[in-house]
Amino acid sequence: MSPQQAVAAVVVLAAGQGTRMRSATPKVLHEIGGRSMLGHVLAAAAPLGAAETLVVVGAGREVVAEHLAAVAPGARPVVQDEQRGSGHAAAVALAAVPDLAGPVLVVNGDAPLLREQTVTALVEAHRDAGAALTVLTARVEDPTGLGRIVRDGSGAVTGIVEERDATPEQRAITEVNAGVYVGDAAAFRAALARIGQDNDQGELYLTDVVGLLVGDGETVAGAPAEDPDDVLGCNDRRELAARRRTLNDRVLDDLMRAGVTVVDPATTWVDVTATVAADALLEPGVQLRGTTSVAAGAVVGPDSTLVDTTVGEGASVVRSHALGAVVGPQATVGPFSYLRPGTDLARGAKVGAFVETKNARVGEDSKVPHLSYVGDATIGRGANVGAATVFVNYDGTAKHHTTVGDHVRIGSDTMLVAPVTVGDGAYTAAGSVITQDVPPGAMGVARAAQRNVAGWVRRRRPGSAAARAAEAATGPGVGAQADDAGGERLAGHHDQ
Ligand code: UD1
Ligand code: CA
Repeated sequence: MSPQQAVAAVVVLAAGQGTRMRSATPKVLHEIGGRSMLGHVLAAAAPLGAAETLVVVGAGREVVAEHLAAVAPGARPVVQDEQRGSGHAAAVALAAVPDLAGPVLVVNGDAPLLREQTVTALVEAHRDAGAALTVLTARVEDPTGLGRIVRDGSGAVTGIVEERDATPEQRAITEVNAGVYVGDAAAFRAALARIGQDNDQGELYLTDVVGLLVGDGETVAGAPAEDPDDVLGCNDRRELAARRRTLNDRVLDDLMRAGVTVVDPATTWVDVTATVAADALLEPGVQLRGTTSVAAGAVVGPDSTLVDTTVGEGASVVRSHALGAVVGPQATVGPFSYLRPGTDLARGAKVGAFVETKNARVGEDSKVPHLSYVGDATIGRGANVGAATVFVNYDGTAKHHTTVGDHVRIGSDTMLVAPVTVGDGAYTAAGSVITQDVPPGAMGVARAAQRNVAGWVRRRRPGSAAARAAEAATGPGVGAQADDAGGERLAGHHDQ
């Protein structure tokens, strides 16, 4: 153990079935606030700098080990074949590191509100007390379901008793076991070797080491957590929702203290992994997930979900959904737009209403104001893409790229059939299907020429309101004679 290492090892107990969750997913993999419960516990213990992090896996061991490899590659899964209790789990972990000595942190994997300052304070309390074992405790209003901390007349911890094994007097105790312990590896090993199964569940309880060590004349300290919320476990979906709410409240409190305006904390959800700068404003109904970051002066919401998305200074995102997108400084998005991965909006760019973008760079001050799809595209600066334009990027087999130059004007309802390039300063005519490059400064027109069939309404819709309006406008007699194939059927105006 080097001096910076506060403990020699961290042991996370995560093999339990989590039956009360009624889930196909192992309990510790349920997510709150951007991390799995296990991820939160590992994050709280990470600053201790332990050389060994062991995670006891059992129920769903393959998925838990896979998750570990993704979020904490340095941690080692240790298999507990049969879930015989938390004491058995701890013993299995310590057996995997037979030479390890010094203080060990043992922690339940279902404690998602545990914070690093709480873990650090526990380790310090343990060191200061010179104890063989120190237990994190909490004084709570409702201790239902938790292990009670039993102290003697002098206040010394003498044991932990599970609720189902407790006497009525013990049940009245409101100081509970958090399921977080720091103990000397040798003391742990010796006591764990002696725990029995003489309890209501017939399990090997980790909590029994307390009474055993006290019986041996060792000192066991109980260190109350500063914030009792830290110790709340999570055993079913109602507790999952409650923990998620508490965690979110903490995240929002920190943001507000740091200068972020949160208009409605009740409907704003921010992952612990997201960042928001001072003087950003979050309107009601906002979710900031994953690695999302929001810069100063930006306004997000109402009703927007941003996942792994970067929002620059002074940008705004209104009623929109973004995944893996970059919204540049002063850029505006929405209402009702969908930014998909690879979207990159430069400074001052605009993606307006009902626009979908994917793998698309929209240059500085360029605008895609309405009802468009922009996929696999590079748009230069100062360009304008007319309403209902589609970047036709997919030929049914492969995706192709479209390049639109600086200061281009794409007419409304243009189909840009990729691969295609519209040069700097070029225009396209509304309604064009552009299949060939448009050179710089040219007007690309690709649509049928219009012709008008004079008097068609008068002949084909006699007596109708339209015919009367036409007659009022043109005078009687105009269009009485067919001057063109007047009897032809015209698209969209079928003869009855
Ligand atoms: C446990 C404590 C209780 C404490 C509470 C705090 C025991 C006996 N009781 O109760 O005093 O107040 O946590 O939340 O420890 N596990 C394994 N293998 C097993 C059994 C459990 O790895 O064979 C793991 C679970 O995945 C879980 C942890 O150990 O992360 C605790 O087990 P759980 O069944 O949740 O214990 P609680 O009844 O909550
Ligand atoms: Ca539990």
